[in-house]
Amino acid sequence: MKAIVHHEYGSPDVLKLEEVAVPSPRDDEVLIKVQAVSINGSDWEGLTGKPLYARLGGLRKPGYKILGSDIAGRVEGTGKNIRQLQPGDEVFGEMPSYRGGFAEYVCVPETALIKKPASLSFEEAAAIPQGGVIALQGIRNKGQVQPGQHVLINGAGGSAGMFAVQLAKYYGAEVTGIDNTGKLDFVRSLGADHVIDYTREDFTKNRNQYDLILDVIADRSAFAYQRALKIHGSYYFVGGSAATLFQILLLGPWIRRATGRNVRLLAVQRNQKDLVFVTELCEAGKIVPVIDRRYPLSEVPEALRYVGEGRAKGKVVIEVSKG
Ligand SMILES: NC(=O)c1ccc[n+]([C@@H]2O[C@H](COP(=O)([O-])OP(=O)(O)OC[C@H]3O[C@@H](n4cnc5c(N)ncnc54)[C@H](OP(=O)(O)O)[C@@H]3O)[C@@H](O)[C@H]2O)c1
Repeated sequence: MKAIVHHEYGSPDVLKLEEVAVPSPRDDEVLIKVQAVSINGSDWEGLTGKPLYARLGGLRKPGYKILGSDIAGRVEGTGKNIRQLQPGDEVFGEMPSYRGGFAEYVCVPETALIKKPASLSFEEAAAIPQGGVIALQGIRNKGQVQPGQHVLINGAGGSAGMFAVQLAKYYGAEVTGIDNTGKLDFVRSLGADHVIDYTREDFTKNRNQYDLILDVIADRSAFAYQRALKIHGSYYFVGGSAATLFQILLLGPWIRRATGRNVRLLAVQRNQKDLVFVTELCEAGKIVPVIDRRYPLSEVPEALRYVGEGRAKGKVVIEVSKG
């Protein structure tokens, strides 16, 4: 099969289209013929090897050679313990370890997949899993957003941020979205009441305070984040620098005791129930998986470059095969 492979960390130039063996499903896995795969920030991190946690699979060289996390496709074969799915089923979900999707076939545990509703295309379905579930767990499960609360989404124009803005509005919050200058109109179009251009303003220094901050691109100190929270407010680190991550783990409990503000890590628990919930909201038109651009499999390097250069508004989707 064809796959986009990388043997070293680096820019999109290190990605190559190669012929590799079609994988065989283990007992609890299904073999999927991939129709579409969407790009997330985790793909960029896995390609560049930055931040440091992106090298968990291999410190000097990538342990997994094929990136690509959110796939949609058809079941082609099943392992011997598979009970729910059968060949021909249209499914989608997030790959464990965020790897393997930039390929014509992947093996996925049955528990990572749900059936694709007929009303969503493969491309739309592939746009949902990682970003949609991060946003749901940040806004609803952990954030427990209530109508009228002030919610800040840092990185609002990207994959998880796009869903987070829409979900926070769905739960009745007043939403501020932060991203670069070129994405602010897009963030407004998602429903954000206020926008901040991160290239011009530091939200931890403008004296505004929020009930909930969901941060997909954290790079400041834990103390800076607590300044931007109301009393009893919560900040959740989703992704960002390893230094900020360690600081939050170390200082978060102390900040909570000293200031009454929560500065925490959002450790997303993948599960079918949350993915079904977000998908139903998409089907009902309550939230939209916005697709900015589509590329064929051979153009994954261009697609990742577009995301890495800070131009993608919402999702970029790879159309692996048609029909
Ligand atoms: N916690 C967990 O359990 C968990 C699970 C899965 C994934 N993750 C992490 O979640 C993150 C998800 O990111 P994603 O897929 O939403 O990424 P994304 O699609 O790349 O979006 C990130 C957005 O943030 C913007 N941005 C960049 N620098 C910024 C800054 N300084 N301030 C504000 N916005 C900025 C980017 O714009 P530009 O175009 O200008 O760069 C982009 O629009 C990744 O770090 C991934 O590792 C965490």
